[in-house]
Amino acid sequence: MNNLEKLIAQATADFSAANEIPRLEEVKAAYLGKEGSLTALLKGLGKLPPEERKAAGANINSAKAQVESLLTERREALRNAQLEAQLQASALDVTLPGRGPSRGSLHPVMRTLDRIEQLFRSIGFAVADGPEIETDWHNFTALNTPGNHPARSMHDTFYLLDAAGQVREDVLLRTHTSPVQIRTMLAHAEQYRHLDSMPEIRVICPGRVYRVDSDATHSPMFHQVEGLWVGENVSFADLKGVVADFLRRFFESDDLKVRFRPSFFPFTEPSAEIDVAFMHGPMEGRWLEIAGCGMVHPNVLRCGGIDPEKYTGFAFGFGPDRLTMLRYGINDLRLFFDGDLRFLSQFQ
Ligand code: FA5
Ligand code: MG
Repeated sequence: MNNLEKLIAQATADFSAANEIPRLEEVKAAYLGKEGSLTALLKGLGKLPPEERKAAGANINSAKAQVESLLTERREALRNAQLEAQLQASALDVTLPGRGPSRGSLHPVMRTLDRIEQLFRSIGFAVADGPEIETDWHNFTALNTPGNHPARSMHDTFYLLDAAGQVREDVLLRTHTSPVQIRTMLAHAEQYRHLDSMPEIRVICPGRVYRVDSDATHSPMFHQVEGLWVGENVSFADLKGVVADFLRRFFESDDLKVRFRPSFFPFTEPSAEIDVAFMHGPMEGRWLEIAGCGMVHPNVLRCGGIDPEKYTGFAFGFGPDRLTMLRYGINDLRLFFDGDLRFLSQFQ
């Protein structure tokens, strides 16, 4: 093999080793560029004796033509491969099976709400509903929490703006489900106004509530289930009995400690908060507050159109998000509201 043949063989090998067009253009420079080997050979012609120049020149030029056509061929091949790859990548494979609708499932908190409803219905409670955008009167004033009562600061409230962007004082996002107590009592009193003695109120009110709050056990939107039992001779002992029985049935466990911790709510007297701890499992020994409760304050009964001399009642407000945490051993309640399917699909 003479030198030119070697050069062509080398160029063939180098070109096919270049797998991308930019790389190929770099390799090209080594042969055909200003400093390229073919260019150097052509420049060297002048130094040859005159009788050899013509033949050598013809040989070099033919080698150059071959290298150029090898280059063009390789460039074409690379372009085609690139195009092919693009087509492949965007190809629509009509033979693939379709994606069927995937099955949804109930949110874990919704399961808890269903379960709570079921358990309370079984002991004679009805289920009531109320608006999430509530009047200040129903949310606070009628619940014995007038204008500048310090207890309003226990609830960090989302107020609404009017069309001019000013904060409205008369409507808000309800901070608890307790305003449904008022709505229920007013409707009940109205319905039985003509009777000497009204039937008992026994109702729960599940729903969404809102507070400016966020950490592992507080979410700005969360759920509550209000309970209200009003009748003649309803006592704190009834409250304890109903709550203890509910919790045992809800958790299907006796492995559970419940405590009524004396507390304050303007709308109940006396008041307590209910804490729960498990003796085993991931939340072992950790007390978590799950509800507030107490005997309905006479002022609240009066605002509901009910005679506090004749009737007494108890109320409670459970936090079903926290009940769900305990039931499934989840340590951060915000997981419920992130909408991450990897988390939610575990409850299918
Ligand atoms: C109340 O909201 C009272 N209305 C409860 C009540 C009703 C008392 C009837 C007496 C009679 P409290 O702010 O403690 O109380 O909330 C009740 C429950 O809701 C708490 O025990 C807790 O389980 C849950 N909770 C409160 N704030 C949050 C929050 N930001 N995120 C999740 N759960 C919460
Ligand atoms: Mg509380």
